[in-house]
Amino acid sequence: MADPTDKMENIINLCKRRGFVFPSSDIYGGFNGFFDYGPLGVELKNNIKQAWWQDFVHRRDDIVGLDSSIIHHPTTWKASGHIDNFTDPLVDCKESKMRYRADQLFFAPVRVAGETIGYVSVLEDETMQAKAEEMANEMKRKQAKQGALEPLTLKDYTEAKPEEHALIPSPATGKPGSLTPPRSFNMMFQTYVGAMQDASATAYLRPETAQGIFINFKNVVDTGRVKLPFGIAQVGKAFRNEINPRNFIFRSREFEQMEIEYFIAPSADWQTAHQGWIEGCLAWFESIGIPRAKLSLYPHPTEKLAHYSKGTTDIMFEFPFGVQELQGVAARGDFDLTQHSDVSGTKLDWFDEAAKARFIPHVIEPSVGVDRVFLALLTTAYHEDEVEGEKRVVLRLPARVAPFKAAVFPLLKNKPALVERAEALYRRLKKRFNVFYDESGNIGRRYRRQDEIGTPFGITIDFDTIEKDAGVTVRNRDTLEQVRMTEDEVVRFLDEQVNG
Ligand code: GAP
Repeated sequence: MADPTDKMENIINLCKRRGFVFPSSDIYGGFNGFFDYGPLGVELKNNIKQAWWQDFVHRRDDIVGLDSSIIHHPTTWKASGHIDNFTDPLVDCKESKMRYRADQLFFAPVRVAGETIGYVSVLEDETMQAKAEEMANEMKRKQAKQGALEPLTLKDYTEAKPEEHALIPSPATGKPGSLTPPRSFNMMFQTYVGAMQDASATAYLRPETAQGIFINFKNVVDTGRVKLPFGIAQVGKAFRNEINPRNFIFRSREFEQMEIEYFIAPSADWQTAHQGWIEGCLAWFESIGIPRAKLSLYPHPTEKLAHYSKGTTDIMFEFPFGVQELQGVAARGDFDLTQHSDVSGTKLDWFDEAAKARFIPHVIEPSVGVDRVFLALLTTAYHEDEVEGEKRVVLRLPARVAPFKAAVFPLLKNKPALVERAEALYRRLKKRFNVFYDESGNIGRRYRRQDEIGTPFGITIDFDTIEKDAGVTVRNRDTLEQVRMTEDEVVRFLDEQVNG
C-alpha cells in the first residue's frame, strides 16, 4: 500500500462503505465540490469540533464563543475587501470547456540547443516536473531535433507573457491555441435576499466565518465579559466557489471552519503573539492525534500575503497527495476593525482604563478547516495490518475523536444470560458515551468491523463474567491486549480514555 493514490482511494472507499463521507446528491450522480457526512462521519466531525471548543473556549479564560448568521449585510464584504480581492485567476480552455486555476497550471518553453521548439503544460502536483520533462523529451523526439534539451523551468500561467498564451497547450487537449488569458474570478457564492432579484438584493454566503466575528466585536465587548487580550471563537460553514475542488474533502465548495480572532493591544509585540499561536496550534494538533512529524510550517513570502495580512504562517500537513495547508495563522493587524469602523460609522475600538486611551486592537487569527482536520486524522489513522493471520483495516483514531468509544459484545448471541448482561452494560455505558452493541457473527469478525471504523475498545461479556463474576474483557484495538475489569472500572476507564 505504498502508493499514495491507493491510500487515498482506500480511504475514500472506506468512507463511503462505512458511512463516514458520501458524495453529495449521490443519487443524482454527485455534485462536484460538495460532500455529505454519514452516521460515523458526523460523529468524528462533531468530536473534532467539540475537542477544539473545549480546549480553546471552555478551558481558557480569555476566549468566548459566537455563532453569527451565515449571510451578513452585503456591505460587510465590501468593507472586508472580499468583493474586490477574494478572487482566483481563472483560465478557460475554449475547446474542451475545461476551467483551471491559472496558478495551478504550470508551463515551460521546450528549448533544444538554444531553439524554442514548443511549450509543455502540466497541472500542479508532486510529479509535475517529471511529467513535463517526459513531454519535452517526447516533443524533441517527434520533431527529430538534435542537441541537448535545456533544463525546464516551470512557471505558473499567471506569469505567462501575453504572447505566450496562444503557444501554451491546454492540459485537456495537449494542443496550443485554446487557452484564454487569465481573468479574476470572485469565489463568493451570490444569492438574493427578499422577493426582488436585482443588484439591490444581492447577498453572499460567507466565504469565511471571520467577518461575523469582526462585525460583532462591539456586541461582545459591550456584554462586558472580556479584557484585552481576548479572543472570539466561531465554528461554522463557509462557502467558496472553488474553480477546481479536489482531493476529496480537502478543497470543497462548502466546508466548515474553526476560527479565532485574538485581539491584542497595538503596542503588543504581534510577532510574539503570532508565534505563540502557531506553537499552540501545533500542540493542539498533536493532542488530538496528528503527529508532529507530519506537520511543518510555511511562512508566506511578503509579496504573496493576502490583502489583510501583516504576516501569515500556514501549518502544513503531509497528506497522501502532498504537503498541503491544514491551518492558516495570520496577523491581520487592525485591518478588519478599521475597515468596518470606517464603512459602518460605528466605532469598533477598545477603551484602555489604565492608559485612559481608545484604540483599535490588532488581531491574530488561527483559522482551520474542520474537514481538513478530519482528513488529516483519517490519513494518519488508516492502517492495514494482519491479526492472527487475517488482514485487517484499522483506523487508529484516538478515543477522544473516535465515533464510537467502545463496542459491547456478548460472546454468543444464543445464550440469553450473556446477551442480557451485555445489553445492560451497553445501556449503562450509552448514558455517558457513544457506544455500539453487536452480537452478530463470530467475535473475531465483530472486532474487525469495529477496528475498521476506529472503535478503540471492544468489551466482551463471556461465561466467566456471569458464572464467576470475573468482570468483562476489554480489548485494545491497537495493542490487541485484553484486560479484565469490573463494569464500574470500565466506566472509569472509558472516562479517562475519552475525556483525559
Ligand atoms: N479567515 C481566514 C481564512 O479563511 P484561509 O486560509 O482562506 O483563511 C482557512 O482558510 C482554513 O480554512 C484553511 O487553512 C483550510 O483549513 C480551510 N479551507 C479553506 N478553503 C477550503 C476549502 N475550499 N475546502 C476545505 N477547507 C478549506
